[in-house]
Amino acid sequence: MKKIGILTSGGDCQGLNAAIRALGKGLYNEFGQVRLYGIEDGYSGLIEGKVRILEPKDLSGILTLGGTILGTSRRPFKKISENDVEAMLENYKKWELDCLCVMGGNGTHKTSNLLRENGLNVVSLPKTIDNDIVGTDITFGFHSACDVAAEVIDRIHTTADSHGRVFIVEVMGHKVGWLTLYAGIAASADVILLPEIPYNIHSIAEYIRKREKEGKDFTIIAAAEGALSTEETALKKKELKEVRKAYPSIAYKLMDELKNETRREVRIAIPGHIQRGGSPNSYDRVLCTRLGSAAARFIKEEKFGVMAAVRNGHIVPVPLEETAGKLKSVPVDCEEIRQAREIGISFGDN
Ligand code: F6P
Repeated sequence: MKKIGILTSGGDCQGLNAAIRALGKGLYNEFGQVRLYGIEDGYSGLIEGKVRILEPKDLSGILTLGGTILGTSRRPFKKISENDVEAMLENYKKWELDCLCVMGGNGTHKTSNLLRENGLNVVSLPKTIDNDIVGTDITFGFHSACDVAAEVIDRIHTTADSHGRVFIVEVMGHKVGWLTLYAGIAASADVILLPEIPYNIHSIAEYIRKREKEGKDFTIIAAAEGALSTEETALKKKELKEVRKAYPSIAYKLMDELKNETRREVRIAIPGHIQRGGSPNSYDRVLCTRLGSAAARFIKEEKFGVMAAVRNGHIVPVPLEETAGKLKSVPVDCEEIRQAREIGISFGDN
């Protein structure tokens, strides 16, 4: 009987259980008989040998469930020791696994690739609300998180309008701005600040004043967690930490700067992990079902060392070495940004 390990690693997101369900059901369908090893808490479970068998009944009723039934943990690649790798290889061998299926984001894929290099059969699924995995057009979790972030901005709209206030909504994404870009456009933010486009506080203040002159008393700024000012891009990591130490996050810094620049009432809203919580939306339910069942097929066909990815609407296997260690940033001249600029959205840069 085939024995397949499944783990979910890194930050959770909507759709993990939907993907576990599809993978499990797909494997039962492909092999008839299969033993599914549900490895708990991500790579920590693989290292420490925490596992339980997933029966078919465990795969029922979880399509819409948020979080992950297996638990997850952050186990940064750079902190994975040789002993950890040894332990993972040993447990894989001890459980007599034929393949390990890993659901995770960027860091997760680096470790998956390392396990592949060490001779394990690995198949992965691209999971993250950040949508920053190279090799796939989209990651699961992104669209659900986008719906949440957009709803937050929508709701802020009405109160910002009533009070004539400037509002900063901080959207998740330390390294890339896909979520902020999409949520910002979807909910009609006036200013969108991304890690990829350094902002100039004077430009944002000028934009707020321009809106005032046009009779628009409120302004909504969607700022990614990792948004940086032009001056900050020149700083080393340590220097940036020093500049930022007075502020819990970017929203607070922007609030301070904009109060000074505009003498306006400025408020902030930080939805934080709410963006990753709760049910996957319909898009992600379909995507997870497709990715999970495709991964089961790859395993059946012994197509190992690959990530199930979306390319031009099709699910295809992408070699792990093509995606591991790479970051899919928002291209600053992408169509979405150009079109947003064309309808007057500011990116704080001019
Ligand atoms: O990678 C997903 C993500 O939600 C990022 O958008 C965010 O910056 C980070 O995780 C938050 O990490 P944690 O859950 O460890 O606080």
